[in-house]
Amino acid sequence: MGVATSCSLGILPSLLLFLLIFWFSPGSSKEQDPSPAPWPHQFHAILFMNYSGILQKIDLWYDWPGGRNFNIVQHQLGDVLYDLEWNNGTSFIYNLDSHNHQCSSLQLEVGILRPNWLDGAEYLGQRHVDGFLCNVWQKVDFIWYYEDVVTKKPVHWVFYTGREAHVMTFEVGAVLEDEKWQAPAYCFNKKVDDENHNADASQLVDGVLRGSNVLPSAL
Ligand SMILES: *[C@@H]1O[C@H](CO)[C@@H](O)[C@H](O)[C@H]1NC(C)=O
Ligand SMILES: *[C@@H]1O[C@H](CO)[C@@H](O)[C@H](O)[C@H]1NC(C)=O
Repeated sequence: MGVATSCSLGILPSLLLFLLIFWFSPGSSKEQDPSPAPWPHQFHAILFMNYSGILQKIDLWYDWPGGRNFNIVQHQLGDVLYDLEWNNGTSFIYNLDSHNHQCSSLQLEVGILRPNWLDGAEYLGQRHVDGFLCNVWQKVDFIWYYEDVVTKKPVHWVFYTGREAHVMTFEVGAVLEDEKWQAPAYCFNKKVDDENHNADASQLVDGVLRGSNVLPSAL
């Protein structure tokens, strides 16, 4: 009698234990790690950037079907810089300052970011950033990416250089009119070669590239 009772009582706890181990084992929780949402094929985002205390506002126009990506960079109380990237690897970085035309073009071996460029990122758990509860991933020690747990919109990302973006707006489906994607004539008038970057332009290029073009080649 005593034996039968302890036996029937013994099965239930071990079943529960089994279920607990099953649900909380590293293997099953790994499968439940969230993945970052792929980027929408077209969107407009306004980003506030902070790079060692240097602040910028960036209008980011991502257009995957159009094979193009645009960063319009407003330096705080300063110049506006246009960084236009084509999927064939060509980038134009220019200003539209009528008194001081500047344009550099670059030829990279990679195109713009693919919508699934975050695939394979390592999940780091949840953190609060900018007042939002976010899932956090890290990709190849290059970028830390924070996505709102509820809306799945990007909230924040940080490059290994310390350059950080805070996403202020994220407008899925927004597309910039075609004529705005036309680099100015002075991007085409001069001969394009490796030496055509004047000091100012290459400085600007450097700042922008940390945020955009360098990424795909590092992945
Ligand atoms: C920008 O980042 C620096 C650290 O690099 C920080 O000290 C500063 O408070 C930040 N500024 C803003 C406006 O977030
Ligand atoms: C890439 O495409 C852009 C836009 O059509 C064009 O201006 C540029 O010359 C192209 N680059 C190459 C290497 O074909």
